[in-house]
Amino acid sequence: MNAVTLRPLRDGDFDAVFALESDVMGADMIALLPRVPGDRAGFELHWQRIRGDASVVARVIEADGVFAGYAISFPLNGERQIGYWVERELWGRGIAGVALRLLLAELPERPLWARVARSNVASRRVLEREGFGMVATERVLAPRRGMVVDELVLRLD
Ligand SMILES: CC(C)(COP(=O)(O)OP(=O)(O)OC[C@H]1O[C@@H](n2cnc3c(N)ncnc32)[C@H](O)[C@@H]1OP(=O)(O)O)[C@@H](O)C(=O)NCCC(=O)NCCS
Repeated sequence: MNAVTLRPLRDGDFDAVFALESDVMGADMIALLPRVPGDRAGFELHWQRIRGDASVVARVIEADGVFAGYAISFPLNGERQIGYWVERELWGRGIAGVALRLLLAELPERPLWARVARSNVASRRVLEREGFGMVATERVLAPRRGMVVDELVLRLD
């Protein structure tokens, strides 16, 4: 079991975040990801906006002190959302679960919200393990993939 910690995202992390988000298999798990894996200009635009937004809580996940992904919280239409992404070679070791628990401990606000493609069984499991419950299902357009998918809306009270 890796020792999982969170720390603030720094400018020096962006090459690692870009490499992480360039993994098509990971990107395909996120229904609404508007960025194209490997598109550095789109990536820069998105993350520059995030870096300038004081309402966003962005954390690097470290496993045994090494970059392992990120966990993030941001407001969307008046609801505080959470999300995370873990390096593919580290999946299945409980890293997302611990990272989510640590992020939840940093966030005083409740309820918190998460949106997960129905096909993303791993992420749904991670959320439900930490107490999120499903409140709705929506049909949404996955923009990059050009297909309509079921997205689950989950809430932690
Ligand atoms: C989703 C993601 C964060 C999970 O990370 P992880 O570190 O592997 O997650 P964990 O190991 O903490 O937990 C995964 C859980 O899902 C389960 N799981 C994984 N794949 C599964 C599958 N196909 N069917 C059923 N359960 C599955 C695991 O068994 C585990 O549950 P358990 O501990 O009860 O056995 C990772 O796959 C990822 O980064 N994906 C790309 C980005 C993404 O989808 N982010 C979330 C957007 S909502």
